[in-house]
Amino acid sequence: MSSGSDTAYGTGTGTGTGPTVGGARADGATVGAATGSAGTAGTAAAGAGAGEGVLPFACPAALAEPPELAGLRERGGLARLPTAAGDRAWLVTGHADVRALCGDPRIGKSHPDPARAPRLWEAALLGPETNHATAVADHRRWRTSLTEAFGARRVERLRPRLQASFDALLGTLLDTGPPAELCADLARPFALGVICDLIGIPAERRDAFAAWSDRVRRVPDPLGAADAAERRELDRSIGELLDRRRRAPADDLLTELAASADGPDTPHADTPHARTPHTGVLRADELPHALSGVLLAGYETVATRLPYGLLYLLADPAARTALAADPGLAPAAVEEVMRLAVPGGSWMPRYARTDLEYDGNRIAAGDLVVFSFQSANRDERVFPDAGALDLGRTPNPHLAFGHGKYFCLGAGLARLELRIAYESLFRRLPGLRLARAPEDIPVDGASVTGGLRALPVTWDST
Ligand code: HEM
Repeated sequence: MSSGSDTAYGTGTGTGTGPTVGGARADGATVGAATGSAGTAGTAAAGAGAGEGVLPFACPAALAEPPELAGLRERGGLARLPTAAGDRAWLVTGHADVRALCGDPRIGKSHPDPARAPRLWEAALLGPETNHATAVADHRRWRTSLTEAFGARRVERLRPRLQASFDALLGTLLDTGPPAELCADLARPFALGVICDLIGIPAERRDAFAAWSDRVRRVPDPLGAADAAERRELDRSIGELLDRRRRAPADDLLTELAASADGPDTPHADTPHARTPHTGVLRADELPHALSGVLLAGYETVATRLPYGLLYLLADPAARTALAADPGLAPAAVEEVMRLAVPGGSWMPRYARTDLEYDGNRIAAGDLVVFSFQSANRDERVFPDAGALDLGRTPNPHLAFGHGKYFCLGAGLARLELRIAYESLFRRLPGLRLARAPEDIPVDGASVTGGLRALPVTWDST
C-alpha cells in the first residue's frame, strides 16, 4: 500500500507494499513486552524518568485516567519517554500543545523508513504509514473523496434507519427481559450494522469483517505478517463488491465511490508513475483499501465508546437521574462521554516530517510524537473540575475526534449513533442501572481500541 492501510484512521489510499505490522523489526531490535495499550504497559523501564513509566500508560480502572498523566500535564510541555515497543517518544498531554501540534504540518503519520520507525506498540493498528513521499497529497485526495460521504446532510438522512436499527436491537433485549449485557448484545451489532449499511457491506460478509477487526486491534498483534494477508483479503472482498455496484448500483457509499473514482490508469502527479496532475480523488484501485480503513474507523470506535460512555453515565447518580428525567439531555451526555470516557486511552502516534523545535524541545525528523487526547480532555486549564461528568458543561472543546487535518470524518455519524443510543435507552428504560459495581466491570486491556469486556445492566421489568 502506498499509505497506512494498517491504521484505523489512516489515509489508506493505495495498494502495493504491505503494512508494517507487529513482530520482528527490520533493525532486529528486540521489542519490549508490549503488553500495553489501553492496558497494561506502564511499568518502569530503562531510561524512563522517575516514576514516569512506559507508553502507553496503563489505565487502572475504567472510570479513571492513567495516574501518570495528571503530573505530566501539570508540569506542561512535552515528555520524552520509552514505549512498550522498546523505542522512545515525545508525549504531548496538554490541551493547547495537542491542538498546536495536531495542526502542525511538520508532523504527519508516515515515516521515511517505516520498518525502522520507532513504534508505540507492536500492534497492527496505527503503525507508520509507508507512503512518505506522497503522504500529504495522498491524504488530501483521500479526504476529498470521502468528506462528502460523511457530510451533515447524508448523516441526517441516515437518522431514521439508525433509529430503526437501534429500536430493533433494544426491542429484543426488552422482550428477553433483564439482566442484559450491552456490549455484545447492543453496542457491537448496532455499530457494525450502521457502518456496513452506510458502506454497503452485505449481511453475509459482516461477521467476517467483525472478526478480522477484533484480531487486528489486539496488542501484541498475534497475527504479525499474516495480518497483511488478511487485510488484502478484506480489500479483495470490497473490490469485488465495488465491481458489483458498477454493474448494479445501490443506495450506498460503494456505489457512489465506484462512480466518482478515477480509473486505474488515471495518472496522478504525486505518485511515482505520474505524468499529469492528479484529479484530486482516489483511483478505483485505491478504493477497496480506503474503504476497509473506514470500516475499521467507524466500527470499533463506536462499538467501544457507546458502552464505555454508558458506564460513565450509569455510574454517576446525578447524570443517571437527570437523563432518566429528561432523555433530551442525550446530546450533552454525548459530549461529556466523548471528553471523559476514553476506551483504550486514545493514544495517537505521529512522526516528525522534519527537524523542528517546539517549546524548547528539539524534535528530530522521524521522531515518534504521541498525542494523548485523553489527557488533553482532562486539562483543568480548559475544563474546570475536569474529572467530573457535567451535563451542563459549555463550552466543551474536547479533542475526542482529533484536531486539524486528520479530524474525524465520522464525527457527525458517531455523535448521532451515541445520541440515538442514550436517548432511546433512557426513554425506554428510565430505571436502567449497572448490574455490578463500576469497579467490577471488566476492561479490555489487551487491545489498541480498549473498551469493556462486558457491560452488565439490569432494570425493573413490569
Ligand atoms: C466515538 C466514535 C469515534 C471516535 C472517538 C473517533 C475518533 C477519531 C479520532 C481521534 C480521529 C483522528 C485520528 C488522528 O488524529 O490521527 C479520527 C479520524 C477518523 N475517523 Fe473517527 N472516531 C469515531 C467514529 C468514527 C466513525 C463512525 C467513522 C466513520 C464512519 C470515523 C471515521 C474516521 C476517519 C475516516 C478518520 C480519518 C480522518 C483522516 O485521516 O483524515 N470515525 N477519528
